[in-house]
Amino acid sequence: MCGIIGYVGNDNAAPKIVKGLSLLEYRGYDSAGIAFLKDGAARIVKTSGRVDSLREKLLKSDKSYCAIGHTRWATHGPVNDVNAHPHKSGNVTLVHNGIIENYIEIKNELQTQGVVFKSSTDTEAASALINKYYNELGSEKDAIKKALFEIKGSYAFAIMFKGKEEIWVAKKESSLIIGYGNDGFYVSSDIIALLPFTDTYYVVNDGEIARISSDSAIVFDTNGEKEIHWQKSEQDEQNIQKDGYDHFMLKEMHEQASAIYNTISVRAKKEMPDFSDELASDFFDGTERIEFVACGSAMHASLAGAGFIEQLAKIPSNAYIASEYRYSVPAFKKNTLTIAVSQSGETADTLGALREAKRIGNKTLAIVNARETAIAKEADACLYTYAGPEIAVATTKGYATQVALIYLIAIYLANKNAQINAHIAQVLTDTLLNSVPKAINETMLRENEMKSIARRIFDLDNLFYIGRGVDYYISMEAALKLKEISYIHAQAYPSAELKHGTISLVEKSTPVVAISTNEQLYSKTESNLLETKSRGAYTILITSNIKTASEADALIFVPYQSAIERFFCSLTLTQMIAYYAAFFRGCDIDKPRNLAKSVTVE
Ligand code: M6R
Repeated sequence: MCGIIGYVGNDNAAPKIVKGLSLLEYRGYDSAGIAFLKDGAARIVKTSGRVDSLREKLLKSDKSYCAIGHTRWATHGPVNDVNAHPHKSGNVTLVHNGIIENYIEIKNELQTQGVVFKSSTDTEAASALINKYYNELGSEKDAIKKALFEIKGSYAFAIMFKGKEEIWVAKKESSLIIGYGNDGFYVSSDIIALLPFTDTYYVVNDGEIARISSDSAIVFDTNGEKEIHWQKSEQDEQNIQKDGYDHFMLKEMHEQASAIYNTISVRAKKEMPDFSDELASDFFDGTERIEFVACGSAMHASLAGAGFIEQLAKIPSNAYIASEYRYSVPAFKKNTLTIAVSQSGETADTLGALREAKRIGNKTLAIVNARETAIAKEADACLYTYAGPEIAVATTKGYATQVALIYLIAIYLANKNAQINAHIAQVLTDTLLNSVPKAINETMLRENEMKSIARRIFDLDNLFYIGRGVDYYISMEAALKLKEISYIHAQAYPSAELKHGTISLVEKSTPVVAISTNEQLYSKTESNLLETKSRGAYTILITSNIKTASEADALIFVPYQSAIERFFCSLTLTQMIAYYAAFFRGCDIDKPRNLAKSVTVE
């Protein structure tokens, strides 16, 4: 949930650290800080607030060739300057991503030995412990190793020692990479922050300790020094610019069509789903049940996906909230495939659920966007989405590609299980590959229409989205998007369930938005919407029923034939409503309050 960057080389470090931190801000933006080596000692500049505030605090004279930086999403201790990273204890200055679970024990013990703590963070316990062992052992590596032996929890550390122009790193369950540039070596939570400087990187593994200096990077695992195999990033720095859009979220909504096309086209051969480049030919053989584990929007994508698989392939499928699953694994029968879905590939709850599924003997598959991340690496197999870097905290293209890829799996399994013939499989695949991106692009042209809906609701406090079946799953995502970026409370409800209690919350002008794209249920969903109108609601009907005679206050048409086009059209409409509602409220759309994009703590 925090972003780490470090640099040691022959160029001025501070501008690089600040640039890197601004690219890592999606990981947390409560506070930011930098420590750089000056005349052998670490000088720290840190502040609550954004990287821009840090930039203002730095002096031109703050020149150094070795520095570490941090952007924080607070877990322990309030958001203030003192709790901002880096933390310094004696000879040790460090930044940390993760949670040190036993920090109170460590802190108590060190306090009895006379150590004085300045902050209320878990991180300072680590810096103090490493400092203690460094003073005792005199070796950076041995001090880190000994401290890590005692530390429980998750971490990625970047550590500087007094008088040494080098950075040490160690990690467990929090991402960390080393970058190899023309002007020195880097460490970072994510390749995105290094793209302005280098595209060559190494992913540090759990349990490894590494040291970077201006002319070398050395990685140690349990067997000693190991050979580094550098990789080249496929990402392009251009992908992390706003390209003239006001917000990354809007840009990413516009990129959904191409992201889906890129995700599906590599797996559509002769218009048939084909996973032979990525999965063993017998990968799905014998699968009797599929369960998804995911969080937030990825969970909503999984719910829709489980529905597609059940309907098309007739394989029993469920989606579980990962944080619930990991501590109460559902009773299962043999031959369950667990699919972990995650844009970032590093969501702690999803990773925990994946590990639990593996522990009980399930076969596992990951659907991940960010390359080489823990979820991607730990599952038995991985299918990457091709959304490209997603910067806005609120996911749009990440979610869209997850749904599209799971839908492709559903077509594949339906054909494999002889639930649909090859011709139908081809038609469905072609619709997903070609018609869906077209439908999304056409829907994005309806910005003015959605702006006027957003203008009608943006100053209200509560809103309901209702729908049945897959429309309910879209409603869940629509409600989350609205809450997340506009802070309007929104709740998704299965249309008919509303009258069993929740309709008591509907009063004069409460907006109720019904999504109705299933022709068999048009009249039922429309009736449920009108039940709320009778109680004073302001009703909005998103429907593919071109012949509707609904008396809803506002009608939004979904003019497509296939269920999957209707899905993505409705989704895109609701994304735009959320975006413009947040826009009219003057919210910080790309960085909503209290959130971070990668949720790497439980
Ligand atoms: O990276 P992941 O897909 O694992 O993230 C899961 C959720 O944290 C994420 O979808 C979150 O709900 C989004 N901010 C919603 O827009």
